[in-house]
Amino acid sequence: MNLIDEIKTRKTFAIISHPDAGKTTITERLLYYSGAIRQAGTVKGKKSGKFAKSDWMAIEKERGISVTSSVMQVYYGDYHINIVDTPGHEDFSEDTYRTLMAVDAAVMVIDSGKGIEPQTKKLFEVCAMRGIPIFTFMNKLDRDGREPLDLVSELEEVLGVDAYVMNWPMGMGKNFLGLYDLHNQRVELTHPEDANGEDFLPLNDAGEVEGDFAFKKSSIYTQAMEDAQLLREAGNEFDLEAVSRGKLTPVFFGSALTGFGVQTFLDAFVDFAPSPAAQTTQKDELVPVDSEELTGFIFKIQANMNPAHRDRIAFVRICSGVFEPGVDVTLQRTKKKIKLSHTTQFMADTRETATHSIAGDIIGLYDTGNFQIGDTIYSGKTEVQYPALPQFTPELFMKVAPKNVMKQKSFHKGIEQLVQEGAIQLYKTFHTNEYILGAVGQLQFEVFKYRLKEEYNAEVVMTPMGRRIARWINEEDLDQNLSSSRNLLCRDRFDAPVFLFENEFAVNWFKDKHPEIELTTLF
Ligand code: G4P
Repeated sequence: MNLIDEIKTRKTFAIISHPDAGKTTITERLLYYSGAIRQAGTVKGKKSGKFAKSDWMAIEKERGISVTSSVMQVYYGDYHINIVDTPGHEDFSEDTYRTLMAVDAAVMVIDSGKGIEPQTKKLFEVCAMRGIPIFTFMNKLDRDGREPLDLVSELEEVLGVDAYVMNWPMGMGKNFLGLYDLHNQRVELTHPEDANGEDFLPLNDAGEVEGDFAFKKSSIYTQAMEDAQLLREAGNEFDLEAVSRGKLTPVFFGSALTGFGVQTFLDAFVDFAPSPAAQTTQKDELVPVDSEELTGFIFKIQANMNPAHRDRIAFVRICSGVFEPGVDVTLQRTKKKIKLSHTTQFMADTRETATHSIAGDIIGLYDTGNFQIGDTIYSGKTEVQYPALPQFTPELFMKVAPKNVMKQKSFHKGIEQLVQEGAIQLYKTFHTNEYILGAVGQLQFEVFKYRLKEEYNAEVVMTPMGRRIARWINEEDLDQNLSSSRNLLCRDRFDAPVFLFENEFAVNWFKDKHPEIELTTLF
């Protein structure tokens, strides 16, 4: 297969959702259909505390959760799929957001009993910022949930995206008959035994199933037909170009738990989700995916995989060329030449040495401290630099100080390195130069504390400040008198002035008082 054809088989995506919407369950289904696991339900047993994938950090074992995004590579039909996990729950962190910089599409799983929840919205916004396609799966149709029309209009209103309904549920919960599939022009039945064992029945030109089947007498079927007719007439047009820009999201219904509708969804997803495309560099030049030169960027660093060796893995999203073991690359930031001989790729259940990876693939480089998040590597003579990864506005803050003043040096060194690595954000109070840590998820603090002790032998005292709203201002607007207990004035690590507001009320109060001052966020 030539390189371009091979790249077309790659689908690199993340699943975004609010905790408990069914991300893990749908991932398991995908692993099951791809043959990577023999039984759905084996990857994670939250209740039994088993977690099969990663036990990289002791903290993970203690808490029975996965700390950082993991990567999985599986085969689905002719496709080579790379799934990048976006940790939720307590393990939500900046890594969750950064992961989305390395994917070409996102699957958004929504609990149909709940609709759009806060974390889904945040993750959606990061995807929307990148303009990547988003495919929506309305999950848990085996339970009674909200009205489908209600869910779709909420999706459009709350997220500001157009929806295109690919299939429509015929009932739900105990009365879930199946899917009226507008895209495939068929009906998919939850009880094929009621239709001579057929899972799928084609629709005729009038949009009806032909033949004499009991389910056709149900008002649920006629209602679905009517809804479908309405969607055909009044709904959005399917426009693949709008899908690929993230402006139109194809919407599917189903149940990850029973598996119903999941394969239908995945089949459409691999058909419509884009394969890796040319990436734009910092200088606004396009690097073709089939370039002779290997290029890629580091979107995540996983430290402490083996505490005895202090090893780290840098996760590289390959953007062009072919990776083969022993390839020489230049690290753009330092211009250092590095031979990539010690690498890994992440299969569903094992880690293997990477032997052949191309655009869209993600490989892990064993790192002894060379790499930073956002670094570009390239194998050619011409320098390539991909744009820096965005920083995200933290929402949680914590004052931090060394426990033992005699260990100031290791405290400062540790903080500096962990901040540089992107593990956490650092602020200093304007007047007193106290250290404040900022994070998007609570776990970042715990990982920070743990790593500072394990890796730098520095113990810290942390004082929670709770939730704050960080807003940056221009240097010229800076006036120390603006600071109060409700809007603590700080500087970020690049010395830019930033207010940490107590709450939304304090932000609005400030805006009213100082309409001339522009307040900005990182993202
Ligand atoms: P997450 O990764 O998005 O956090 O969600 P996860 O897949 O772990 O699912 C959260 C809970 O919702 C699980 O139940 C799971 O079994 C259930 N679930 C997922 N998909 C469906 C579905 O299509 N229908 C129904 N009825 N339930 C679904 P749990 O009891 O909290 O956890 P577990 O210990 O059984 O895994």
